[in-house]
Amino acid sequence: MARCGDTTQAACRQKMYGHIFTCKIAGQYIHFLCDPFSYYSVIRQGRHLDWRKFHFATSVKAFGHDSFDPRHGHTTENLHQTFLKTLQGEAIPSLIQTMMGHLQDVMLRSDTLSPSKDHWEVDGIFAFCYKVMFAAGYLTLFGKEFGEDKCQARQAATKALVLNALENFKEFDKIFPALVAGLPIHVFKSAYSARENLAKTMNPENLSKRENVSDLISMRIILNDSLSTFNDVSKARTHVALLWASQANTLPATFWCLLYMIRSPDAMKAARKEVEKVLEDSGLTPDPSDPTLSLTRDQLDNMSVLDSIIKEAMRLSSASMNVRIAKEDFLLHLDNQEAYRIRKDDVIALYPPMLHFDPEIYEDPYEYKFDRFLDEKGQEKTSFYRSGRRLRYFYMPFGSGVTKCPGRFFAMYEIKQFLTMVLSYFDVELLDPAVKVPPLDQSRAGLGILQPTYDVDFRYKLRSKH
Ligand code: HEM
Repeated sequence: MARCGDTTQAACRQKMYGHIFTCKIAGQYIHFLCDPFSYYSVIRQGRHLDWRKFHFATSVKAFGHDSFDPRHGHTTENLHQTFLKTLQGEAIPSLIQTMMGHLQDVMLRSDTLSPSKDHWEVDGIFAFCYKVMFAAGYLTLFGKEFGEDKCQARQAATKALVLNALENFKEFDKIFPALVAGLPIHVFKSAYSARENLAKTMNPENLSKRENVSDLISMRIILNDSLSTFNDVSKARTHVALLWASQANTLPATFWCLLYMIRSPDAMKAARKEVEKVLEDSGLTPDPSDPTLSLTRDQLDNMSVLDSIIKEAMRLSSASMNVRIAKEDFLLHLDNQEAYRIRKDDVIALYPPMLHFDPEIYEDPYEYKFDRFLDEKGQEKTSFYRSGRRLRYFYMPFGSGVTKCPGRFFAMYEIKQFLTMVLSYFDVELLDPAVKVPPLDQSRAGLGILQPTYDVDFRYKLRSKH
């Protein structure tokens, strides 16, 4: 195996150590489960395993709010239920519609990009994705100030607020791995001020001046007020936590999707064809001077090429560790009929890159194949095998079981909408068509979608023909 030392280190260990291996890190035993057929015994969340301890504690460490764990007595909110109600099912159509409006505003109405028909604009793909997706995602969740639409000065103020929020977000996000590792935020002065600046914009008074706030944030405001003893600072920090959750993975994921799509002429061709067909079937013509395209959830669900383009990009870039803590001593039963002794407070971890880079599951695992997740009929492919057995778990960028990302459906729609808008309104090209894919920044391994170690330049202009 050529790449020991990066995300695949765990995969190398699997070859050496079998179905499970244990590391002792800072006095803590961590058991990495390697065999995907045994994942079920961890994911089904038996009575021996706790997910809340780790998740709630991590959020408190990073964002500085009071604990969300109802056992600590600061709130009785069932956060998990709040997420399910406001990020899935009936909540989706309005999230899609709002996001679509903001994407087009940011790309074409505001002067964030100022694209032209006549000349190319050069930018980094990473910089482009961060500007556009952060602004659109931020406004979709947190709304705009009242009356903004009618007043130019307010529009400028909103733009400044969002740009500022992006800078603060990036400053804070840089040290996120250190916070999860347990370093106190006070050690990082500028990251601390960045986090607190974000919190200030989200204190109860400032949020009350905003309209078109998403159900997620509106409901959290109400539940913070009615079910918790959090003070205003703590309340604001809970919103910063959600801003981070909604952006920290989506932004780098969008970068990888756009980069891999532009680098692959076949992917570009298939994606353009799919987008053009969807627009044509709905009688929509992209017009940059009146950017009001709107796609429904069903239309987005039927875009299986974009779906595969996105999934493949995330397969290659995701490194989120799924963690559970043992509540007591117990025997973990593996698929091969062996049992493994786990001690109280030991950590059990699933590390999806072991699946994502397994050559038995994914042929040529380091290659980007845009249609890897399409079946012979061009529909979503869901059957993947290992040792001749069909796998239940083969793709896990969004985590698993009870801690699976509640925003995963919205995340996929957001990125699909972004790619659809880019393809509808712009011609895009790499400055260097032979450019290499930048290596993953491994400093965030375990925490989600990894960032590239450097940006890649591209150029864009308004599409000349449709
Ligand atoms: C490509 C984009 C995304 C990826 C790869 C992703 C991945 C993940 C993963 C792996 C977790 C679980 C973490 C763990 O087990 O410790 C998670 C949790 C979470 N995600 Fe996402 N996420 C994405 C986008 C979003 C978006 C757009 C939202 C909201 C709008 C969101 C909201 C959340 C929340 C609230 C949690 C915490 C859930 C809980 O603790 O119950 N995510 N995400």
